[in-house]
Amino acid sequence: EEKAITDVRESMYLVTEFAKNYFHDTLLNVEEGKAIGYTYFRERGFTNETIKKFVLGYSPEVWDSFSKEALGKGYKIEFLESTGLTIVKEDKLIDRFRGRVMFPIQSMSGRILGFGARILGNDKKAAKYLNSPESDIYHKSKVLYGIFQAKQAIAKQDNCYLVEGYTDVIQFNQSGIENVVASSGTALTPDQIRLINRLTKNITVLYDGDAAGLRASIRGIDLILEEGMNVKVCTFPEGEDPDSFAKKTTYEDLVLYLENNAKDFIQFKASLLMNEAKNDPIKKADLIRDMVLSISKIPDRIKREIYIQECSRIMDISEQVLLNTLAQLVQKDI
Ligand code: CTP
Ligand code: MN
Ligand code: MN
Ligand code: MN
Ligand code: MN
Repeated sequence: EEKAITDVRESMYLVTEFAKNYFHDTLLNVEEGKAIGYTYFRERGFTNETIKKFVLGYSPEVWDSFSKEALGKGYKIEFLESTGLTIVKEDKLIDRFRGRVMFPIQSMSGRILGFGARILGNDKKAAKYLNSPESDIYHKSKVLYGIFQAKQAIAKQDNCYLVEGYTDVIQFNQSGIENVVASSGTALTPDQIRLINRLTKNITVLYDGDAAGLRASIRGIDLILEEGMNVKVCTFPEGEDPDSFAKKTTYEDLVLYLENNAKDFIQFKASLLMNEAKNDPIKKADLIRDMVLSISKIPDRIKREIYIQECSRIMDISEQVLLNTLAQLVQKDI
C-alpha cells in the first residue's frame, strides 16, 4: 500500500518534470512562446538568467499541445490527469494551461509540485493566475514559492522575507536579494511558517501596499508569533508591491529601504493602530487589547514580558494594566 502511493508520486513527478521542461523549451525555442511569453517576461524586466533560474515557461494557445506531446513520449493519461495538467473530458484531452506564462512551483529539494500560470496582459474577465489543483504531490497550504532558490540565503542571512506573489520573489532575486519566498496569495498557514522555521527564526513580512496586504500582514503576525518565531513587517507605498518597488530601485536603495522601514511587530501594530484610533479613548483601549492579544500568542514567557514593557512604553500605559490583560488571555503559566 505504502509502496503503491510512493510509486504514484514518483510517476507524477516524472510528468511535472517533463512539463516544466516542455513549457520552458516552448518559451525559449518555439515561435509562439518566444513572441508572446518570452517577450512578456522581458517587458517585465526579467533577464535571461532570471528566466532560467526560475525555469519560467509558456503554454501554447492550443487545446492539447502539451497533452499530445506528453502522450507521444509515453507518459500515461492517469498521471497527466492526476497532476492536473490535463483535463479528461469524455475521451478528449484538454490542457489546463493554455496561452499563459508558467511558473513552476518547486519543493525545498527542487521537485516540481505544480504550476502557477498567468494570463498575458490585464484582461479583467479571466482569472489572472490559474494554479495547479490539489493533488497527491501538490498541497497549496504546505508550499512556499521560491524556497528551493532561497533556502541557503535564508540560513546564511538568518532571515526570510515573505512576499505575496511569484513575481515579487523573482524581482527580488534579480535585485540581488535571495532570501525571499511567497505564500502565493493564499492566507499564510502554520505549515508554511514551519517550513521557514527549519532555516531561520526570523521572518520579515513584505506584503502588497494595499488594504488586503495590510490585513494579511496583521493576520500573519499572530501565526508567526504562535510558532515561536520573530516577526517584523515592512510596508510599501500605496499601490506598490515588492516587485514594482524593487524594479525601480537600485540594490543599495532597496536594502536601505528594507532596513529603515522594517518594524518589529509591536511597533508596526502600534503605529497602525494609533493612526486609526487617533484620540478616541475607546478605540485606543480596543487597540491596546489587540496588541496584548498578539503578545499572548508568544510561547516564551520572558519574550512576552519584554514585549509588554515595550508596549507600555510605546502606548504610554502602565505595565501592570497590560500584565493583567495578558493574564486573562494566557491563563496557563502566569
Ligand atoms: N494569486 C492567485 N490567483 C489569483 C490572484 C493571485 O493564485 N487570481 C496569487 C499568485 O500567487 C500571485 C499572488 O497571489 O502571485 C499575489 O497576487 P497579486 O498581488 O494580485 O499578483 P502579483 O503577484 O502582483 O502579479 P502581477 O504583478 O503579475 O500582477
Ligand atoms: Mn501528501
Ligand atoms: Mn495584491
Ligand atoms: Mn502583488
Ligand atoms: Mn505585482
